[in-house]
Amino acid sequence: MPADIPAPALPGIRACVFDAYGTLFDVNSAAARMRDALGDKADALSAIWRTKQLEYTWLRSLMGRHADFWQVTGEALDFAMADIGVHDAGLREDLMAHYLALDAYPDAAPVLAQLRGAGLATAILSNGAPAMLQAGADSARLTERLDAILSVEEAGIFKPHPATYRLAVDRLGVLPEAVCFVSSNGWDVAGAAAFGFRVAWLNRMGRTPERLPAGPDVEIRGLDALPGLIGL
Ligand code: LAC
Repeated sequence: MPADIPAPALPGIRACVFDAYGTLFDVNSAAARMRDALGDKADALSAIWRTKQLEYTWLRSLMGRHADFWQVTGEALDFAMADIGVHDAGLREDLMAHYLALDAYPDAAPVLAQLRGAGLATAILSNGAPAMLQAGADSARLTERLDAILSVEEAGIFKPHPATYRLAVDRLGVLPEAVCFVSSNGWDVAGAAAFGFRVAWLNRMGRTPERLPAGPDVEIRGLDALPGLIGL
């Protein structure tokens, strides 16, 4: 390599594996679409819904009481609606329907296309149940830009259990150190790094770094920074 071209921060990457919710899909877009019904409670509902959804995954994993992410997402929504004092079965149904067709962040499709065009494998690895992930990828037109859509349902436990990250290694046939895992979720970044992936933390919102036993190799503010980091 000529001396004036800097070495990529993440050399030797053969596959890019993405978290789904919060990374490719905007989880706040469901409540945002129901702002007319939710009024000034929309943002609070969305934040509580997401927080509880994640807490319930970790708690169920610790309790040995797995249920799929569709059920957990519904139970978290039930908590969030009760917590803000909204009781409306039709609204619940609408919010859950929107969760199957969340907005993708605008940088998702072009970057996936660029990576694939350069010969890298691309995949989603998510807590989402298979039907949720397929619906989300189809509606955001990401499906044809992905080699695999992997759900933790195959492992029967949620991230950050190492068995979930192993699904990507097994399916894509690459070593962990040849995978760049990309997530906006700090706890997922920690889990993926502890497993042995190279990890890019997609810190879209400028969040504070986690204090956990493993951390990201690089931090980016948008997906468009990713290709350069892996030498494209
Ligand atoms: C996922 C959630 C945790 O997609 O963001 O796995």
